[in-house]
Formats: sequence, C-alpha cells, structure tokens
Amino acid sequence: MHDERVVHFATLSDFLKSLEDKSSKEFWPDILVYAAKPHMTSRILPDYKNICTSQTTFLTVAAGKGLSHYQELLGEGPALVRAMPNTPSAIGKGVSLLISSVTSPLAQEKKKQVTSLMDSVGSSYWCASEDEFDRATTLSGCGPAYVFAIVEALEEAARSLGLSQEMAQNLTYETFQGALSYLASNNRTAADLREEVTSPGGVTQAALSILQGTEGLNSLFCNALQKAYQRALDFREPSS
Ligand SMILES: NC(=O)c1ccc[n+]([C@@H]2O[C@H](COP(=O)([O-])OP(=O)(O)OC[C@H]3O[C@@H](n4cnc5c(N)ncnc54)[C@H](OP(=O)(O)O)[C@@H]3O)[C@@H](O)[C@H]2O)c1
Repeated sequence: MHDERVVHFATLSDFLKSLEDKSSKEFWPDILVYAAKPHMTSRILPDYKNICTSQTTFLTVAAGKGLSHYQELLGEGPALVRAMPNTPSAIGKGVSLLISSVTSPLAQEKKKQVTSLMDSVGSSYWCASEDEFDRATTLSGCGPAYVFAIVEALEEAARSLGLSQEMAQNLTYETFQGALSYLASNNRTAADLREEVTSPGGVTQAALSILQGTEGLNSLFCNALQKAYQRALDFREPSS
C-alpha cells in the first residue's frame, strides 16, 4: 500500500460513487477494513460487494459473525479475513487474532499485508481454525476487561482494609505494571516468580490460600472462559 493511495471519504456512499468513475480504479483498495457493528452486516455488506474484486482482501473486525456469514453476503470474490483486536491496540500494544478461510487459504502476499497492517497496532497471531479463533478470543479479545476487573477488585479490597482511594489506586496500578514488566524481563514463568515471593507460612501464602483455593482464581477463570466461549458459539448460529 502506498501513501498516495490513502484517500478519505466523508461517507461510504461518496466512496462508492467515486468508484463508478473507471479512472479512479487505481484507488480500489488492496485491503478493505470492515469495522461497523456486527448487527449491521446484513444491511451494509451488499454495498461492499460492488467494490470487492478477486484482488481485494476483506478484513472484518466485527465480533461474532463467522466467515461463512461474509461469504454468503460477498460471494466468492474477495479473500476473507476475520480479525479480533483488543482495546490496547489504541496505544499500539494490542493483540490481534486472525483467521482466513481454511477452504480457500490466503495467498502469502495477502497474508503478509494483513499481518503488517495488524502488527501496526501491536502483535498478531494467525489461528489454525475459526474454532480456535473463537476460543482465543475469550482470552485476548475479552482479556483487557478481565484485567480491569481484577484491578477494580484489588482497589476495592485495599479500601476495605482501610487504605485511602489514592493509595489503593496507585499501589494497584504500580504493582501490576512492575510485576508484568518483571515477568517480561526474564525467562522465568509466572509460577516461578510467585513461588519466589511466597515464604512458607508467610503473609503472601495466607492470601494465596484463598486466591488459589478450590473456588479461587483457577476455577473462576475456567468457568469464565467457558461461559465466554459458549456465548461466542451462540453468536455463530446461522441466524446471526
Ligand atoms: N472496541 C473493541 O474493543 C473491539 C474489539 C474487537 C472487535 N470490535 C469490533 O469492531 C467493530 C467496531 O467497534 P467500535 O467499538 O469501534 O464501534 P463504534 O465506535 O460504534 O464504530 C462503528 C463504526 O461503524 C461505522 N458505521 C456505521 N454505519 C455504517 C455504514 N452504514 N457504513 C459504514 N460504516 C458505518 C461508524 O461510523 P460513524 O461513526 O460515522 O457512525 C463507526 O465508525 C465492531 O464490529 C466490534 O464488534 C471492537
């Protein structure tokens, strides 16, 4: 993609109108990014069909709709890719999952273009199947919400123990940031680093006996991810 091909249109209909002029074919996109709400796809996609050729890669970030949904509405023309970025993409630290049709695999050149586009907002991972994409979405797609929920819970617990709001917030943020940077800075696992800070019979172990007990984090996250995956399957129903 070249900079001179980056053109802004006020509305989709302006864009479509401009394409009616054959001379503007040079502006036909290599990659068409679809980022409208999932419930709009049936209404909007027929418009896109007119500007999708066999050269186009149609990249959708809309959650929930499976590749077959786009194939039905767009036909055999474009190469289809689903992407599931997460919100830290807004600051270049996102994780994006990618999947293309298993039955008509993406050409290497197109795959490189899509990877490079999504890597511009963080890192990206190609999934082997749409089912893997849905399962992985429960981790990286929804994951920022889990992290924010844990931060909220820790802040609240610290306040209930008598810390001020400011102290609870600062200590929570900085402890998270420090611990994750520490984890990323060496080759040891999270379990190694947890054990390092947990003296037998000590204060940390007292807290972990709750967090890692039978109804603790492991079981909570297993249930949470299962529930999210089931929800993803509901959205994949043919009527969706
Ligand atoms: N936010 C996330 O963390 C996240 C993560 C993964 C996937 N997604 C998916 O990303 C998509 C966008 O999410 P969002 O949070 O950015 O939603 P959003 O802020 O509501 O953005 C929706 C976009 O769709 C545009 N749009 C509406 N009607 C259109 C039409 N007829 N033709 C073309 N474009 C139209 C809107 O344009 P106007 O502003 O001009 O109305 C707007 O830019 C959704 O499908 C969502 O499922 C979001």
